Amino acid sequence: MTAVLHATGLSVVHRTRSGPLHAVSEIDLTLRERRTLALVGESGSGKSSIAKALLRLPPPSAGTVTLDGTDLATLTPRALRALRPRMQMVFQDPLSSLNPRRRVSDLVAEPLDAHPDPARDRAVVVARQLDAVGLPSDLFGDRRPGQLSGGQAQRVAIARALTAEPRVLIADEAVSALDVSAQATVLNLLRRLTEERGLASLFISHDLGVVRAVSDDVAVLQLGRLCEQGPTEEVLAAPAHPYTAALLAAVPEPGRPLGDTGLLPADPPSPLAPPSGCRFRTRCPLADARCSAETPAMHEVAPGRTAACHRPLIP
Ligand SMILES: Nc1ncnc2c1ncn2[C@@H]1O[C@H](COP(=O)(O)OP(=O)(O)O)[C@@H](O)[C@H]1O
Ligand code: SF4
Ligand SMILES: [Mg+2]
Repeated sequence: MTAVLHATGLSVVHRTRSGPLHAVSEIDLTLRERRTLALVGESGSGKSSIAKALLRLPPPSAGTVTLDGTDLATLTPRALRALRPRMQMVFQDPLSSLNPRRRVSDLVAEPLDAHPDPARDRAVVVARQLDAVGLPSDLFGDRRPGQLSGGQAQRVAIARALTAEPRVLIADEAVSALDVSAQATVLNLLRRLTEERGLASLFISHDLGVVRAVSDDVAVLQLGRLCEQGPTEEVLAAPAHPYTAALLAAVPEPGRPLGDTGLLPADPPSPLAPPSGCRFRTRCPLADARCSAETPAMHEVAPGRTAACHRPLIP
């Protein structure tokens, strides 16, 4: 499977009044064609910081991001602008990104209007994307965002992203605000479009239930560091990292926030003052002296699976 987007050593530092906040450090990720990688972690673990850094909005504090082999940091501002449409993002609240006064067909046409292409007929392009998200243009094209349900509005946002003919689609908590049936529709859609349009997708969520439904691979983020990566089915069937195991304990009750499991104290430590050694050690039932002295390195725990733990749960 072709690697499309590749991040190595990605770090994001936010300036805050209390000093530099290391939101994420040393992140390595690869998005592959026709595959969905899920990025999962509690609120504040740094998921959105990673998403924005991949798009250089703003650029990461350290690390490299390549798109189809091109290091984005080497591009001129003009070349980066030309490449931007190849990387599309979908957010939690679709209505905040859809101008309420515009018609659905005009919203979906926005990327084409911004970069007109004589080879692409506007009406044909719009009809194709709206069909792809199950909102036929003859029924929905003239509506305004206020006349759509939350799920329909999210599908319009996805249709608009598709108009840009992206290589990469980043969905940041894109189903978190939707009811269960709208969630299922949007998850199925993202899965199918990733396949049909050859996208390399990053699906960001705090909810392992939706991660299970949509992703091929999963990367687990804990207080700004990746702690486990591998094929979703394998990781969720037998997690290697105690943090992943604790997150899984939260899954049976949909809608319950991560952390509210009895296994994890509700609040993770502040990224302004992370624990020494393993960043999970203050909440880990397996922590021992080594865990406070030595930061565990990511290493292979099974073929195709990595974890950063001194005492991984799989042999
Ligand atoms: N623009 C910002 N300025 C200062 N701190 C930020 C900013 N954005 C995020 N943070 C902090 O960085 C950490 C990670 O945030 P974020 O990437 O939004 O996590 P998530 O998306 O997983 O909830 C949090 O501690 C958050 O408070
Ligand atoms: S390194 Fe130690 S504290 Fe960290 S997850 Fe593994 S056992 Fe727990
Ligand atoms: Mg976020």
